[in-house]
Amino acid sequence: MKIFTEITPLKAYLRDMKCQGKSVGLVPTMGALHEGHLALFRKSIAANDVTVGSIFVNPIQFNNPGDLQHYPRTLDKDTQLLESVGCDVLFAPDVPEMYPENTSITFDFGALERTMEGRFRPGHFSGVAVVVSKLFNIVEPDNAYFGQKDWQQFAIIRKLTQQLNFSIQLHSVETLRAPDGLALSSRNARLNEEQREYATVFYRALTAARTWLKNGETMASIRTKVQQMIDQEPDVRLEYFELADSQNLNELQDVKQSDRPILCIAGYVGEVRLIDNLFID
Ligand code: PAJ
Repeated sequence: MKIFTEITPLKAYLRDMKCQGKSVGLVPTMGALHEGHLALFRKSIAANDVTVGSIFVNPIQFNNPGDLQHYPRTLDKDTQLLESVGCDVLFAPDVPEMYPENTSITFDFGALERTMEGRFRPGHFSGVAVVVSKLFNIVEPDNAYFGQKDWQQFAIIRKLTQQLNFSIQLHSVETLRAPDGLALSSRNARLNEEQREYATVFYRALTAARTWLKNGETMASIRTKVQQMIDQEPDVRLEYFELADSQNLNELQDVKQSDRPILCIAGYVGEVRLIDNLFID
């Protein structure tokens, strides 16, 4: 695997690959890699001649300084994992390489970011959109891979790609879970053994809510029951629980209001913020 920390040599290398007619896949990450990330890499490696993984803990998408400070950084282990799955190129820049000066650019995705994550993490999606735009311009991939776990992020990157005319095919990859249902996340590493148990309540709430919706219960009553499930777990706090249209993320009261509704949940276990979602098919 080739490792680049600087943009110019990476661009030169990729230009060479593209001149040889090779297709390029990009998997943007913030590192602390787990099997969920590796699922994205496996998809890219299977479909592209060259897969570029990026590892960059993007400071401008963190609205909570403590979260940025405690974000796990495991570059040596990540490098080994990427080697083991057959990734071709790792791009791991430092902050001055990505932001030689403070960026003044901001994005506003309107209604798409006024809800859920956007409501609780002001400025977060603007920071994501800036870094993803930079990565798209640096790598100019044919394909880019993102996880369904961060569905709102995917919806926003799709809007970004349409509106800025990036010629990149976007792929959303199904959420990988632990056997007990907890969505794999780099932040899970910050949970102690007990918190790790409590954290399963988010997936349990989503699956229970899906069954209740299918049985015709109203969102109002489901919301109450989900809150009760959360309240039974020590150290867990609900931030939001929403039924939304998976395309425009508009809030729904009833599954019949959308072709493809999605349930989204977010909350804290101790100091650690976790999110999850489930499509209602
Ligand atoms: P990060 O949280 O490292 O996630 C990188 C990618 O892995 C995202 O597309 C995310 O949705 C996906 N992913 C995470 N957990 C997953 C799981 N359990 N199953 C499947 N995919 C999973 O998301 C980011 O980084 C950043 O915001 C980024 C897009 C890199 C911009 O900085």
